[in-house]
Amino acid sequence: MMYWQATALISLIAALSVAGQIPPQDMIRCRACNNAVNLENCPTNAVCDNRTEMCYMEEIITASFEIMYRGGCRARQHCNPSMHLIGRRNSLEVTSCSECCSLHDGCNERLCGIRSLVNVSQCYHCDSNAAGATQGDVMDPNDCVTFTTCDSNEVCQAETRHHPGSPLTYRYGCQNKNICKLLMKRAFDHLQACEGREGTEGCQFQSTCFVCCAEGGCNYGDCNTTLKELYRQYKMNIFSLDTLKSTPAG
Ligand SMILES: *[C@@H]1O[C@H](CO)[C@@H](O)[C@H](O)[C@H]1NC(C)=O
Ligand SMILES: *[C@@H]1O[C@H](CO)[C@@H](O)[C@H](O)[C@H]1NC(C)=O
Ligand SMILES: *[C@@H]1O[C@H](CO)[C@@H](O)[C@H](O)[C@H]1NC(C)=O
Repeated sequence: MMYWQATALISLIAALSVAGQIPPQDMIRCRACNNAVNLENCPTNAVCDNRTEMCYMEEIITASFEIMYRGGCRARQHCNPSMHLIGRRNSLEVTSCSECCSLHDGCNERLCGIRSLVNVSQCYHCDSNAAGATQGDVMDPNDCVTFTTCDSNEVCQAETRHHPGSPLTYRYGCQNKNICKLLMKRAFDHLQACEGREGTEGCQFQSTCFVCCAEGGCNYGDCNTTLKELYRQYKMNIFSLDTLKSTPAG
């Protein structure tokens, strides 16, 4: 081989390896959101290096009390929960939530309460007790991918069930709105009463978790995570116990 050909070949290989620096098994795809209102505003995936990065999502509350999301790849060391990423970033906005994940591609599309623009009356539906449900209770919240259309007097509900000696199961569906308002009031009262004394008498681990919300597809994920998320919004006056909705953005 001629010297110049060998040099060209070496630089081509070098260029290719720079472009494909991340071995396929270490790639993780993360939803990329920049000041997004919903998941439809995040149509692209960023390709990240799962060895050094994680997917993240941040919820920002703007000066006009609107909710926006930012997400993509973030260095693993910046995903440490002890980092104080939450709080007032400047006089115009507050970072109200900042979370990371790396278990599977697109995992950040279910962090910090970001939602898809599914129809308002549509809720995730995975319920082993419901006649005709396509999916039963799931063992992993991410496995629930079926929607149903709820009645006009219903909102979305998620619940976690503990079965002594066996794994947790997660159930999703519709619930009467008035029942939901009572359940949410009770759950928030409990969270409030237990604030700062988690784990003490009366504030121990609860065997069942219920959460309701009235926006399309809002009943995803782990019930207690969603409940804490909505309680956090409630304390910031951006979630209403009457409408069971968060302040609309946009
Ligand atoms: C990323 O790495 C973690 C281990 O650190 C692994 O559990 C996870 O499955 C990986 N994610 C992807 C998308 O391969
Ligand atoms: C939302 O509802 C409308 C009217 O019922 C329907 O035409 C549309 O396909 C629905 N969209 C989705 C994403 O289900
Ligand atoms: C609440 O969520 C966390 C994180 O998913 C989990 O470790 C914990 O067991 C859950 N607690 C209950 C009561 O479900």
